[in-house]
Amino acid sequence: MQLSKRVLNVSPSATLAVSAESKRMQANGIDVVNLSAGEPDFATPQNIQKAAIKSIQNGTASYYTPVPGLPELRQAVSDRIQADTGRVLTTDHILITTGAKMALYELFQALVEPNDEVILIAPFWVSYEEQIKLAGGQSTVVHPSANDMKVTVEELDKVVTRKTKMIIINSPQNPSGLVYSKEEMHVLAKWALKRGILFVVDEIYGNLVYNGQKFTSVLTFEDDLVANTVVINGVSKSYAMTGWRIGYAIAQPELIKKMSALQGHMTSNPSAVAQYAAIEALSGEQKTVIEMKDAFQKRLNRTADLVEALPGFHLKHKPTGAFYLFPNVEEAMAAKGYDSSAEFAMELLQKAHVAVVAGEGFGMPGYIRLSYATSQEQLDKAMNRIQEFLAAK
Ligand SMILES: Cc1ncc(COP(=O)(O)O)c(C=O)c1O
Repeated sequence: MQLSKRVLNVSPSATLAVSAESKRMQANGIDVVNLSAGEPDFATPQNIQKAAIKSIQNGTASYYTPVPGLPELRQAVSDRIQADTGRVLTTDHILITTGAKMALYELFQALVEPNDEVILIAPFWVSYEEQIKLAGGQSTVVHPSANDMKVTVEELDKVVTRKTKMIIINSPQNPSGLVYSKEEMHVLAKWALKRGILFVVDEIYGNLVYNGQKFTSVLTFEDDLVANTVVINGVSKSYAMTGWRIGYAIAQPELIKKMSALQGHMTSNPSAVAQYAAIEALSGEQKTVIEMKDAFQKRLNRTADLVEALPGFHLKHKPTGAFYLFPNVEEAMAAKGYDSSAEFAMELLQKAHVAVVAGEGFGMPGYIRLSYATSQEQLDKAMNRIQEFLAAK
């Protein structure tokens, strides 16, 4: 079979690959502690489940919806944005997609020409790079030198070229858990506008910030900055709805229209029942969001200390958002004789039965990602196993 160059060039998702291997081991009766998951361990809140069931039973979920999403859901996104940021957006600025992942895919397909460059900041979420490749573009990866892993405009100035089309900032960030302050984000947004580069902000973890950290959406910024911005968001992480596959893009109507045209030939509308569930998520009571966030915060505070105490593990900064820890493990790797964090992660899985994701997929070899979206009991067990693995001769 002659596969296309396009598809031969794509690496499988590093995060999904580890998850699959640990599920295979579990199916064989091995007690694996899985810290590789990129999803909350909570079930979707009851009020959201009920809204979905209702839409099935009354028949409204039986049919195709408009390609860019149900008007009621686009309005619910607009209302939530207004409540959270004060910005009033007409629904033609909003596209509902099959997960935030699809919003990003359509964005790159709509804007990136062959050989266009897209700036990514390491560590970056695994799918950006592959999706950019699929659109024929090139990723330009910036490795911030600061310990907090935040990029500066001086670092960006060094990589920008005439071919630079856009920059992607993910805050709160997967995998490092860093969160840019309002001021830091404002500086980056102004830089992008001045350079004529589209500013893409992935705010999917925006509700998940801890220990007094504030998250400010770029939608609170001045109109000219917002007009140069695409915001990617969705219900997966904040509402424990990863399986439902509802995301959205916020952009200028001209771009939304084109992304919707693409969507019309790829998925058509996102699943109707999931859209009804998302309406309730965004417009119903928000109590469960706070409860889940509080649970994540407790786990972060305990587990970050446990990770710091592991020999050869170093957190360059304590995360304040998302639900991941991203320690540097080069010292631990060297002590155990491993050359790459991919090999280290695989040995942790095979020998200690703890699944983590190696830093390579995020553009940062020498690091591993541990998700604390699992019970404290499991987290404690994982830390004990890693400690024993490191101590073993
Ligand atoms: C940074 C980031 N953006 C986007 C997504 C995609 O989310 P969704 O489940 O809505 O496709 C993820 C999921 O892991 C993510 O971590």
